[in-house]
Amino acid sequence: MSRTNDNSPDQTIAPTAEDAAEGTEGTRLLVSRRAALGCMAWAGAGILWTVSGGVPRSIGLIGEAEAATKATDFTFVQISDTHIGFNKEANPDVVGTLRRAMADVNALKTPPAFVLHTGDVSHLSKPEEFAQARDLLQELKVDKIHFVPGEHDTLDNGMEGFLKVFAPEKGGKGWYSFDQNGVHFVGLVNVVDLQPKMLATLGNEQLEWLEDDLKGVKSSTPVVVFAHIPLWTVYEPWGWGTADSAKAISYLKRFGSVTVLNGHIHQVIQKVEGHVTYHTAMSTAFPQPKPGEGPAPGPMKVPADQLGKLLGTRSVNVVPGKKQLALVDMPLDRSV
Ligand SMILES: [Fe+2]
Ligand SMILES: [Fe+2]
Repeated sequence: MSRTNDNSPDQTIAPTAEDAAEGTEGTRLLVSRRAALGCMAWAGAGILWTVSGGVPRSIGLIGEAEAATKATDFTFVQISDTHIGFNKEANPDVVGTLRRAMADVNALKTPPAFVLHTGDVSHLSKPEEFAQARDLLQELKVDKIHFVPGEHDTLDNGMEGFLKVFAPEKGGKGWYSFDQNGVHFVGLVNVVDLQPKMLATLGNEQLEWLEDDLKGVKSSTPVVVFAHIPLWTVYEPWGWGTADSAKAISYLKRFGSVTVLNGHIHQVIQKVEGHVTYHTAMSTAFPQPKPGEGPAPGPMKVPADQLGKLLGTRSVNVVPGKKQLALVDMPLDRSV
């Protein structure tokens, strides 16, 4: 399989004209359409991140990544939208695809420090789905998995069932922060009171907590924010965005490096805005249509031999004047 990505932090790859569309206010939206080219791809696995010199970057194909070489370096993995309990034709075997993804993570030469799960752990929030997901995810050879809920985890008595199994602390509301090797991680919840086709919200209480949480963090500290629904508006008619995320981002603007990781849309899309880089992730369960393609979001049935390839787009962020390269390729099926 031909590859154009490279793990070198100093190398940048310009997006093709078809990959790039100008956003507003100087932002640049990069949506890779290279899936159509047929290489890379599919549904599942996690995204491998490496933190080198404190700056996170995604480094592509799991299993091939060589990261963390200095004492302070570390890697982590993002897994999203496992939808345990889903069994429709878009993927009747979400357990099988999750297991394939986890096998890739477990095969990493550099074991990740932890895994982030960015929500939709379950499909219908049933206690047995949470229990099955918890048991399955224990097959990951990592010390810790940090969770934030997706809207599919809030269908039964709000977040009660989810928090019972996955909350980082008793009595919390699901948002939290932690530090790892000089990087500040913040998990946010934007799936409460979600209405169909309406943008998500963080809410004032959480925003106040975030402002307070960040007060003690130096501007030079890299920050990684993770939440289920994108913290930028990917496609408003489908509710793919967070209405009050601007407030959250305003608290983050003083930091030199902010990486925002989301799930929910089951495909990789990235955006760069100043020092803030946004990345959505693939699902391990089923693909969804590209923003605005088709009448509505939802599980997308594809030919069986395409399932493993559909979502493996390569998204490339290029920030002129900066050496940052962020590219993401995490296909379960790495055959062409
Ligand atoms: Fe999902
Ligand atoms: Fe979701």
